Amino acid sequence: MDLNLLINFSYIISAGMFVFGLKMLSSPATAKKGNTISAIGMLLAVVVALLSQGLDYKWIGVGMVSGTVIGVLAARMVAMTAMPEMVAIFNGFGGAASLLLAWFEYSGKYEGNDLAPLFTAIVLVLSIFIGGMTFSGSMIAYGKLSEKISGKPYLFSGQHIVNIIIVVAALAVSFLFVTNPGAGSQYMYMLIAVALVFGVMSVIPIGGADMPVVIALLNSYSGLAACAAGFVIQNNILIVAGALVGASGIILTNIMCKAMNRSLSNVLFSGFGAVTTAGAGKQQQGEAKPATAEDVFYILEAADSVAFVPGYGLAVAQAQHQVRELGEILEENGTDVQYAIHPVAGRMPGHMNVLLAEANVPYDQLIEMDDINPNMETIDVAVVIGANDVVNPAALDDETSPIYGMPIIEVHRAKTVIVLKRSMNPGFAGIENALFFHDNTRMFFGDAKASITGLIAEFKES
Ligand code: TAP
Repeated sequence: MDLNLLINFSYIISAGMFVFGLKMLSSPATAKKGNTISAIGMLLAVVVALLSQGLDYKWIGVGMVSGTVIGVLAARMVAMTAMPEMVAIFNGFGGAASLLLAWFEYSGKYEGNDLAPLFTAIVLVLSIFIGGMTFSGSMIAYGKLSEKISGKPYLFSGQHIVNIIIVVAALAVSFLFVTNPGAGSQYMYMLIAVALVFGVMSVIPIGGADMPVVIALLNSYSGLAACAAGFVIQNNILIVAGALVGASGIILTNIMCKAMNRSLSNVLFSGFGAVTTAGAGKQQQGEAKPATAEDVFYILEAADSVAFVPGYGLAVAQAQHQVRELGEILEENGTDVQYAIHPVAGRMPGHMNVLLAEANVPYDQLIEMDDINPNMETIDVAVVIGANDVVNPAALDDETSPIYGMPIIEVHRAKTVIVLKRSMNPGFAGIENALFFHDNTRMFFGDAKASITGLIAEFKES
């Protein structure tokens, strides 16, 4: 068989594995397998790409081994709550890789050669520019998420004018590069500099709270940069993989914006979080009613149906194993147990699914927001574990609230609501929650892990 045909045939198999893997990621039941299939597809693509070139494998081996060691250590050591930061860094490296690849290709083949085809010059520019801005933007996103730099939106007067100047500079340098591809490296260096500045300036005005959406968008950009790099080196699988990342990143960005009832332009340009939103919306009337572990035990013991509603606090407390254990005890007690999942609960897409899957909570007990809300009135007890904004009824009925319009899990319609959190402090959006003052709500204060451990002890003693 023709070698080229064999290579492209292998690439088609890899691409098919990426697509099936991605599809399987959409359900927790198949996600793990999907990840493995995609990873095997990537291994196949890498091996075929390397074998099809006459390369110096010594340095490639060094790169692969050190990359594997760093990747495995990073994935194993990172805390679940720090996962968005890690994704930010890896996105940035993806962008930097595309930039370096285009830079190397240009220096090796086209510098001083005005015969570089127009198409190649355009994809070189795209790969360098998108790769560069993805790198610097992702590093800022990492800094904000890890609180190495302030998470506040950085806004200054004349920011729009500075941004316009940067965009004009980017267009001008790109034009000069494309029309004089052999003119030497100076336009490319300028392009790299403008791309890095553009990435920084795009992300600094966005609040740390919106970083997960920004990361999904940067993930999409890193895919587009890789796609352009694929055209530069004419590698089909890089083009396909880049396009898949670009498309899935933008779909994810869209899902996250929808779940927060915000437009992408609102996320990117509104400076959400620049002024503190605490106290925004209606002032709450009445008092929150605290409950002890014993009170909550009696309520749960008598319940026919319980819905756990996890949020960011579950991740902070790392209480997923205790929640699963409590769920099993309730089931043994004859209670129907469900877990209600809000699409943006926590701080990253799928955060709650990942945590609960880690604790082996059965997938069929995970119910999406749109499926559980219509049945909320029939649920005896909704147990809110470290969730706040995603159960705040102000999103439905308070037009002055910053989260007005965001879909929520409507736990306030359950017969009884138990809220596990440490204090009356607000959540991510910085606003009070009327739910805590409702007649049917009891506040069970404390760290979620300690509180649930206490409940388990109550059940075991009974
Ligand atoms: P939040 O509204 O952030 O509330 C989390 C609550 O957990 C806090 O009120 C906190 O109260 C409590 N908590 C923290 N540590 C705890 C612990 N150890 N034990 C018990 N409770 C603890 O979380 P949510 O309801 O999951 O909402 C997510 C928010 O993030 C939404 O506003 C969403 O728009 C935003 N967001 C999410 C994403 C994604 S993709 N998930 C992306 C961007 C933005 P105490 O301090 O009183 O304990």
